[in-house]
Amino acid sequence: MAHIIAGVASSHIPAVGAALDLGKTAEPYWQPVFAGYERAKEWFKEVKPDAIILIYNDHASAFSLEMIPTFAIGCAPTFAPADEGWGPRPVPTVEGYPELAWHIAQSTILDEFDMTIINKMDVDHGLTVPLSLMFGQPTAWPCRVIPLAVNVVQYPPPTGNRCYQLGKAIRKAVESFGSDERIVIMGTGGMSHQLQGPRAGFINKAFDKAFLDNLTKDPDALAKISHLTYVQEAGSEGIELVMWLIMRGALNQTVSEIHRHYHVPASNTAVGHIILENI
Ligand code: DHB
Ligand code: FE
Repeated sequence: MAHIIAGVASSHIPAVGAALDLGKTAEPYWQPVFAGYERAKEWFKEVKPDAIILIYNDHASAFSLEMIPTFAIGCAPTFAPADEGWGPRPVPTVEGYPELAWHIAQSTILDEFDMTIINKMDVDHGLTVPLSLMFGQPTAWPCRVIPLAVNVVQYPPPTGNRCYQLGKAIRKAVESFGSDERIVIMGTGGMSHQLQGPRAGFINKAFDKAFLDNLTKDPDALAKISHLTYVQEAGSEGIELVMWLIMRGALNQTVSEIHRHYHVPASNTAVGHIILENI
C-alpha cells in the first residue's frame, strides 16, 4: 500500500516568491526568512517522496466569486503556474498524478466529503511558493504533486474540524492505493495575518507559537478552534491555518517534530513552517 510518511506546513506568502524570482533572498530583510527553509531542502533530498499532496488555497486565480468549491482536487496531468496579474512565476509546470488523485477523489467522496474534481486548473502562489521554498529553483519539480484547494477566501470556509477529518480520510485513501509509494502531505498558508480593514497587519505571536506546539502535541485541541477565534486571534487571513489541519489529520496521533521555523515579519504575515514525521 502507499503511505504518508510525513507532513510539512509552510506559509505561502506571495512576496516570498517575488523575492526568490528577483534574486533578493540574501537581502537583510529576506535572509532570515529563507534561512529557516534550508533544513527542509536537505530533508526533502534525504526523504525523496514519490509524490506530494499539497493543500493550498486559490486566491481568485483559477476560481473567482463565480465558482467557489469548498474542497477541490486537481486530477489533471499538469498544472501551469497562474498569471496573478504580472505574468506567471518563472517556475516549472507541476506534474500531477491523475491515478492517485482520482483514487483520493473516489475514496473521500464515498466517505461523504463532497470533493470537487478539477481537470484543468492553473496554480497560484498558494501552491508554487511552498514548492519554491522546499526545492529552490529547479528546471523541473522533483516529484509529482496533487493540488488540493480549500476555500478560505469567501465566508463560509470549512471548519477546522472538517479539515482535520478530511486529512484522516485522505490518509485512508492513500493507504488503499495499490502501490508502495511514499507520500508527503503539505499544508500551506497562515500563520496569523490580516490583509484588510482596520486591523490590517495584525500578527499574534503567542497564538502562532501555541498553534505550532499543539500541531505536534495536541492536534485534537486545534481542531476545536472556531472561525470566530481564528478571526479574533489570528486575523481574518489566519483562517488559512485550517489547511494545516488537513495535513495534520493525515498523520499519526504521535509524530516527531523534525524542524520548526517562525519569523516576523515577512510581507504582512508571520512566516511559519514545520516538518512532522510519522513515528
Ligand atoms: C500575503 C499573504 C498571503 O498568505 C497571501 O495569500 C497574500 C498576501 C501577504 O503577506 O502579503
Ligand atoms: Fe494566502
